[in-house]
Amino acid sequence: MYPKEFEKSIKKVEATREERLKKLPERMKEKEKDALLKKWHPDYKPEAKRKLKVGVSKGSIVPNEVADLLEAYPLINPDEIDLSQVDYEADILIIGGGGAGTAAALYAYYNGIKPENIIIATKLRHGDSNTIMAQGGIQAADKPNDSPIIHYLDVIGGGHFANKPDLVAKLVMDAPLIIKWHEELGIMYDKKGDGEMITIHGGGTSRKRMHSAKDYTGMEIMRVLRDEARNIGIKVLEFSPAIELLMDDDGKVAGALLYNMETDQYYVVKAKATILATGGFGRLHIQGFPTTNHYGATADGLVMAYRLGAKLRDMDSVQYHPTGVAYPEQIVGLLVTEKVRGLGAQPVNVDGEQFVHPLEPRDVEAAAIIRECYGRNKGVVTPTGMRGIWLDSPMIDMIHGEGTIEKRLGAMFRMFSRFGIDMRYEPILVFPTLHYQNGGIEIDADARVLSKKGAIPGLFAAGEVEGGVHGKNRLMGNSLLDTQVFGRVAGINAAKYAKKAKIGKLSLQHTKKYIGELKKAKIKEERKAPILLPDYREEKVLSRAIDIL
Ligand code: FUM
Repeated sequence: MYPKEFEKSIKKVEATREERLKKLPERMKEKEKDALLKKWHPDYKPEAKRKLKVGVSKGSIVPNEVADLLEAYPLINPDEIDLSQVDYEADILIIGGGGAGTAAALYAYYNGIKPENIIIATKLRHGDSNTIMAQGGIQAADKPNDSPIIHYLDVIGGGHFANKPDLVAKLVMDAPLIIKWHEELGIMYDKKGDGEMITIHGGGTSRKRMHSAKDYTGMEIMRVLRDEARNIGIKVLEFSPAIELLMDDDGKVAGALLYNMETDQYYVVKAKATILATGGFGRLHIQGFPTTNHYGATADGLVMAYRLGAKLRDMDSVQYHPTGVAYPEQIVGLLVTEKVRGLGAQPVNVDGEQFVHPLEPRDVEAAAIIRECYGRNKGVVTPTGMRGIWLDSPMIDMIHGEGTIEKRLGAMFRMFSRFGIDMRYEPILVFPTLHYQNGGIEIDADARVLSKKGAIPGLFAAGEVEGGVHGKNRLMGNSLLDTQVFGRVAGINAAKYAKKAKIGKLSLQHTKKYIGELKKAKIKEERKAPILLPDYREEKVLSRAIDIL
């Protein structure tokens, strides 16, 4: 239920609805977008970032919260770890049990690796990941009025031309194949009566190419991929995050050190090829923002790969999803899928006025909402002092017919219903929320992780941990796609590599070297990483506030 003080504003939203149905605001011109981003997007706050003091990307700019982890000391003392005692041996170790990791495992199997020689090590349960939290859909240019080339242009434009072109080409060219594979596995995408896939727009897409399973697309994908992996017999180690990568004495990546969260034991896993699929950094709550991310999204893969010499790219850019829940307090920050706007709900301010086209690219849309709340003072203030703007959800049933919200946004409808808010008749209050790590570890089109000297032998990466695909801003529906395309590529190439690789004596020499660099840079041994889970007990967290102005 909404508090009484919202009533006046909701009445204004209702009063302007009929008129707004007739006309959308113009899309912003490039110059206007640039000015808006520079003034209002959180990425453009220089004090929120700093130059890295150590490692291969020393001197590059990353958010302070990320620098804190990259400049932290390992959880273990490498001199105290006995690497002669191997607990598990595998052809391929996959770190991360979300969409990217599971797709990688399946494609490694399809490419000749026995299931018992593939290990998925995952921090929580198999499938606990940002994949299952993805709502709106997955892009693929598979309709006659569309093509991978048009998809390519959308991705590059959305990413501010900072993307790696060969990675984007791979993403868009393989997208139709991924949807076909999903169909064959039994993933249930939304279809019309005649069987044609329903596709809609996302922000920044010039064709309707978003395929979805209602508003729980990631959950549906993960359900089927996980079943497939389990049926095949792929080995899964749950509650066992990696805390350090291992190398051999020949400089190849050779597995990882896992930490069993239930028993507090360390496991040495020796593997011919290792795939990082650890996801992103949403739970670092960059600049105090709430997040859409699952609890495990703490940048572990970045930390481990960086210590080993992996290059980073586009880490200066963070994605704030324009519409996270701003009320009720219990679910602040959770995702309100872009599909809500894709189906016609308009963002409007406290006076019921339109102020931005509903489907600008995410960074532009988010910046416009922040400006409306903090620059123009046209936001709705909640009882806890948070600000937000209305997403006029009742427009959806008005445009598409009664029952559309329940049918196509069933999860969202239920989420708000639990708090007495009926989004069929009442607008919902939203504000940007930390959603995605745009950059990450640099890979090539074979999903090999790159150091300054080229590909790091034996190390592959897929999904949110890697950078280059999305440039400085990812479009909706390209993250699920990224997990699947690069999960597949990583699985195929890791399988190829593992068939020939021979592993020498295991080593943590790179960790020792990194500790040496930290000491040389006079970084005190105050922080340890990876952190594995966010800590919500600290004083600074309890008093957390979004740092906007
Ligand atoms: O808005 C959404 O449903 C989010 C999708 C995405 O980030 O790709």
